[in-house]
Formats: sequence, C-alpha cells, structure tokens
Amino acid sequence: MTSSFVIAVDGPAASGKGTIATRLGAIYGLPVLDTGLLYRAVGVLSLRAGRDLDDAAATAKTAAGLSADLLEDPAFRTRAAGEAASRVAVHPEVRAALLAFQRDFAGQAGGAILDGRDIGTVIAPDAPAKLYVTASPEVRAERRWKQLTAQGEGVSIEEVLADIRIRDARDSGRDAAPLKPAPDAVLLDTSEMTIDHATDAARRIVEAARARWTAS
Ligand code: C5P
Repeated sequence: MTSSFVIAVDGPAASGKGTIATRLGAIYGLPVLDTGLLYRAVGVLSLRAGRDLDDAAATAKTAAGLSADLLEDPAFRTRAAGEAASRVAVHPEVRAALLAFQRDFAGQAGGAILDGRDIGTVIAPDAPAKLYVTASPEVRAERRWKQLTAQGEGVSIEEVLADIRIRDARDSGRDAAPLKPAPDAVLLDTSEMTIDHATDAARRIVEAARARWTAS
C-alpha cells in the first residue's frame, strides 16, 4: 500500500471536476486543492504586475512568488482569469514553479484530492484513484455561463462556448503537461448527469480504487 490515498480529478473546463472534487473531499474528509486556481492566480497577478503572459520567465517569477494566502481573490474566478490561466499554463517554467506546492499537498499524510489537468499524469502519477471528468462542450458552456452570470458577468453562451473551445485546444495541444487522461484514469462523462448523479458515480469509482489500494 502506498503511504497516502490521493484522488486525482482531471478534466477540461466546467466538466464538473471541481464540484466532484469538493464533494469527494466532504465524503472522505480529505483536503482538496483546486490547481486551476494556481494558474488563474499566476495569470491575474502577472497582468497586475504588468507582465506579458507570453513571457515564460516573467510569469514564472509570479508563480515562484505565489503563496496559499494569495489564492482567495474573487478576481481569479472570472472569465478573463480562466483565459489568462491557460496562457501562462503553456510555459514549462510556470508549471515547474508550481510543482513542489502541488506535490507537497498531494503528499499529506492523511491523503488529499487535487483537481486540474495534469494531476494523474504529472503531479501524482502514482495516485491510487484517478478520474477523468468530461462533458460535451455545449453542456460545459452552459454550466460555465450560469456560473459567470451568477457572478454578474455579462456574457453570452456563444461567447463562453467559443472560450471553452479555444481553451480546450490550447490545454490539449500544448507540449508541457497537455490535458489528456492518464492511461489508468476512469472516464466519467457528466453530460447527462445531475451533480448528485455524477458524485455517486465518482464515489463508486473511488470506492473501487480504495478497495484495490487497501488490498495492495
Ligand atoms: O480548472 P480551471 O478552469 O480553473 O483552469 C484554468 C486553466 O489553468 C486551464 O485552462 C489550464 O490551462 C490551466 N491548468 C493547468 N493545469 C492544471 C490546472 C489548470 O494547466 N493542473
């Protein structure tokens, strides 16, 4: 048995992975790290510092200066922050600067849940439980549009769908830790599922993984 029970929850934007990770955290009493927030923070803080998002060295400096207490800013939840995040996330230097924080979180004695794009492939490749949560671009666009509208952002579903397609292409097409399911991840398509249904399905996947992990 490996030392701690890590649950890796990867998938594209607005697939439901964040909600699933939070709910699994409540069910299993495990701490949850939304790793997208790290990239969002690097994007927004780089812009605030007047740094060019395409400049790997400059944005990596922002990443190196990031600390957990800086992550609570609601500005990191906006549409612009998601776009900025995916632009800085292409830089290997930025990813490297965020690696130790994520690995330390994953290595906590009691176990942990991390959601993102490369948790099962790069951050915690030995995680005993790996989920790859997905949904159709249209369903994801509607979910993200509802979130953004509730936050007071004036944007159309068509614009959000266009953002999602651009972000999917950038996240999947980049050289550094591209978005893709780990070979041993279990796929969970939430397109037709309510959040309760998706949480139940995720829980069953985790239970099976935990039984294997305990027996190993
Ligand atoms: O999950 P969220 O939409 O908040 O992620 C924002 C962006 O951060 C993603 O589009 C992706 O480019 C980047 N990201 C990443 N690796 C992660 C988490 C997020 O590259 N583990």
